[in-house]
Amino acid sequence: MDGVRVRYGQTLAVRDVTLSVAPSEILALLGPSGCGKTTLLRTIAGFIRAEAGRVLVDGAGIDHLPPGKRGVGIVFQSYALFPHMTAAQNVAYGLEARGRPKAEIIRRVEAALAAVRMDAFGARRPGALSGGQQQRIALARALAIEPSILLLDEPFAALDRSLRLDLQLEIKRIQRRFGVTCVLVTHDQDEAMSMADRMAVMRGGEVEQVGPPAEVYDSPATAFVAGFVGTTNRLHGRVEAREGAAYRVRLDVGATVTAESPRGFAAGDRVLLCARPEQLALRPAEDADPAAWPARLRLSMPLGPALIHDVEAGTAELKLHQSRHGPPPPPGPVRVALLPGARPSLFPASLSPEGDSA
Ligand SMILES: Nc1ncnc2c1ncn2[C@@H]1O[C@H](COP(=O)(O)OP(=O)(O)OP(=O)(O)O)[C@@H](O)[C@H]1O
Ligand SMILES: [Mg+2]
Repeated sequence: MDGVRVRYGQTLAVRDVTLSVAPSEILALLGPSGCGKTTLLRTIAGFIRAEAGRVLVDGAGIDHLPPGKRGVGIVFQSYALFPHMTAAQNVAYGLEARGRPKAEIIRRVEAALAAVRMDAFGARRPGALSGGQQQRIALARALAIEPSILLLDEPFAALDRSLRLDLQLEIKRIQRRFGVTCVLVTHDQDEAMSMADRMAVMRGGEVEQVGPPAEVYDSPATAFVAGFVGTTNRLHGRVEAREGAAYRVRLDVGATVTAESPRGFAAGDRVLLCARPEQLALRPAEDADPAAWPARLRLSMPLGPALIHDVEAGTAELKLHQSRHGPPPPPGPVRVALLPGARPSLFPASLSPEGDSA
C-alpha cells in the first residue's frame, strides 16, 4: 500500500497509509474500533476505491482490477454467507464464478471444508449453523479459491476460546503450507501477538508502528501503542538529568528512577513513563530505596500461574504481575519499584493524555 487514502463523505477513514506485507507473511492489523482496519482490508480486496494512493502486488498496481481478479480471498467481519445456499454451495461459489471444472470444484470444496473441520455440515444452510460454524464456512470459502493473498477480518470473533485456538493454529498451518500472504485484522492483541509475523498498530486511520510483535511490545513507538498492545502502567514525572543513554526521572509518585530512551529529553521536561506489569515489583513498606515509591496494595488476584497485584500510588493505579508462589501478600501499605534490568518506555508527556483508549 502506497499512500492509500480512503474517505467516506466527510470521514477520512484511512490517512495516507504506506505499508508492505512480505510474501508468505502474516501481518496483523491491530487497532481500536473505528480506526480503519476493515476499510484498509476492503481496499486491498478491491471493494473500496482509494481516493489517493495505490495498492501493488509484486510491484504491479492492481487498483484497476475487480475483486475477483486480484487473487485475493477475504473473510468478512460479518461472514457474508449467502443465506439461500448450503455451506458447500457457499464454499463453491468463488470457484464457480471462476468457471473451474466440476470435478475440481467438488475436490476443492471437500478439502476446504475438511480444513476448517466442517466436512459434516456441507448440506446445511447458514441459518442452521452457529456463529462460529458460519465463520468457519466463510473461511473455507476464502481458502477454496487457493488465494495468493488471504484477508481475514476478525475471523475468530464468534468462537469460544478452545475453538479459537484450534482455528488459529489451523490457519497458521494452512498459511505456512501454501505460503499464503495474509493480512489479519483483529483488535485482540493476544491474537495479533500469537498469529502474526509482524503487526501494524493503527489509530485514527494511520499506522503508528509496524514491527514484529515482540519488538512492538518491548519498544512501543508511542504511548498509545504502549497502552494498546499489552497492559501498561503510566507514571508521570520530570527529567532530572541525562545519564549516558538513560535519563534520571523524578516520578510524581515520589521516587527517582532511571530509564533509557531513544527519544531526546532535556532536564525539566515532563515525561510519561510506561512500565509493563511484569517490570514492576512489590517491596516491603519499610524499604528505604529512593527508587521505590510508597503505594497501597488493594488486592491480589491469581491468574493461572501468575498473581496480579492491584496497587494504588497517589492518583496512579498500577497493575503488577509476578509469578505465584505461596499465599498472596496481605493488602496494605507497600512500596513499588522497577525490577532490576527492566526497560520501561519514556515518552514526552502531552497535555491531552495520550493513548488510554480510542
Ligand atoms: N460505509 C461507510 N460510510 C461512512 N463511514 C464509514 C463507512 N464505513 C466505515 N465508516 C467509518 O470509517 C471509519 C473506519 O471504519 P472501519 O470499519 O474501517 O473501522 P474498523 O477499524 O474496522 O473498526 P471495528 O474494529 O469496529 O471493525 C469509522 O469512523 C467508521 O465509522
Ligand atoms: Mg472492522
